[in-house]
Amino acid sequence: MQRLDKLVSTKLNITRSQAKALIKSGGVTVNGSAVLSCDMKCGDSDVITADGRTLDTREFVYIMQNKPAGVICATDGKGDKTVLDLLPEDMRRKGLFPAGRLDKNTTGFVLITDDGDFAHRFLSPKGHTVKTYIATLDKPVDDGVIADFESGMTLGDEKLKPARLTVLDESTAQVEISQGIYHQIKRMFKKHGITVTALKRIKIGGVALDRNLALGECRYLDDDEIDKICQK
Ligand code: URA
Repeated sequence: MQRLDKLVSTKLNITRSQAKALIKSGGVTVNGSAVLSCDMKCGDSDVITADGRTLDTREFVYIMQNKPAGVICATDGKGDKTVLDLLPEDMRRKGLFPAGRLDKNTTGFVLITDDGDFAHRFLSPKGHTVKTYIATLDKPVDDGVIADFESGMTLGDEKLKPARLTVLDESTAQVEISQGIYHQIKRMFKKHGITVTALKRIKIGGVALDRNLALGECRYLDDDEIDKICQK
């Protein structure tokens, strides 16, 4: 629960005294009634309007985006378009960042949030959240490649955790990994002389990319999905 003037000032990005003035002028309603007391305590379940706009009172948000190629997972693109640039106006708010990175040319499920603790849990190597990808390959995969993925291959100096590789057809495979080192999947295939020509993330933990989202589109995760993100 938060004081009404604090909430209005944060959500409208105005000063606390501007928020107080707005409340005292009758410009703020809580659950349908004008409220003049700045110290009223409000929470997630209250519907608050200010200047006729309904405020988003959620403490944190969790957004699924279907990332297109050519867009980077960063808060500042330094010239490149970022996943945050694709958010519609009404989903933008302070503090959002992509939790984890896909390469610029990788498509699919990106999680965007402003909940740092959640992202930390999700990204922590101890979390073991499984991420599922579809890889398009320039050559077929043989049993030796599958065995190397499953036994936990060595890349450079690093021994990777076991990954699951499922052949879908001559040129596509599903890959499940539970860590996220730099260019991991491309490097795992490269070790076997196979080039990944396209890569799409289709699932994080127990949540699949929503098929109704076109490339570049987003939607909020519901509570059930938020719980399932960190599943193994
Ligand atoms: N592995 C890669 O090689 N690239 C990605 O974007 C994600 C996983």
